[in-house]
Amino acid sequence: MSQDRSLDNAELLAVLDWYQSAGVDLAVGEAPVDRFAQIAPAPQAIAPRPAQPNQTAAAAAPVPAAALGGDPSEARQLAASAQSLEQLRGILDGYNGCGLKLRATQLVFADGNPEAKIMLIGEAPGAEEDRQGKPFVGRSGQLLDRMLAAIGLDRTKVYIVNTVPWRPPGNRTPTPEEMELCLPFLNRQVELVAPSLVMTLGGPAMQTVFKTTNGIIKMRGKWQRVAIGGHEVDAVPTLHPAYLLRNPAAKQQAWRDLLGLKVKMAELGLG
Ligand code: URA
Repeated sequence: MSQDRSLDNAELLAVLDWYQSAGVDLAVGEAPVDRFAQIAPAPQAIAPRPAQPNQTAAAAAPVPAAALGGDPSEARQLAASAQSLEQLRGILDGYNGCGLKLRATQLVFADGNPEAKIMLIGEAPGAEEDRQGKPFVGRSGQLLDRMLAAIGLDRTKVYIVNTVPWRPPGNRTPTPEEMELCLPFLNRQVELVAPSLVMTLGGPAMQTVFKTTNGIIKMRGKWQRVAIGGHEVDAVPTLHPAYLLRNPAAKQQAWRDLLGLKVKMAELGLG
């Protein structure tokens, strides 16, 4: 068979299918780009993005070159400088230290009510979240909305974030390095919102917030007092909605966890 004949439609579809199974589900250009080569020398600070009308000076500041190499102390310093959620969003938008940003369409900062007393922490944005710039708006998000509604909650009563604010390519789990770089920003987000109750969704978010290597099945439903950054709060892990979509029988465990959240809310007079 000739090596250079054009592929027919069925073969092209098979190639696309193969790419998708390998996690390549987004076309970003006509030719490959070596992003590592682009980042490696980083002799100077990146030029600042032009300030947006509602952006603070801190948000528009240049990102130091050290941040390009993914320096966690730089991330901590930047995160700590945010005095409001809007500043934090601007700082994250200008931050180039985490490689996830290179392949994401946009920052997925948060959704819901920043005044809410209940905060939900997921793992990472997926394809739909990456498109819309909001957490939990795809299929998992629709299930999450139904779970919340079952205990009288909706997005006006909760604040929703992820452990990393950019979509990992192919929806893979963020690496420990990516999580470490993003953690100072999550910590600051929690400090600024100062929720009374936190529910984590899925294993990676649970391991980040509860600083454990235990599995989600062992930990789910168990409340603990945890420090997230400088904020102490009662927190509970539950199963991720995406897991529940794949394993509907596990919904009864998630339902128990939600009832636990409702009891805690009642204890604190949160409705
Ligand atoms: N899964 C997550 O953990 N977060 C999202 O925002 C969407 C899906």
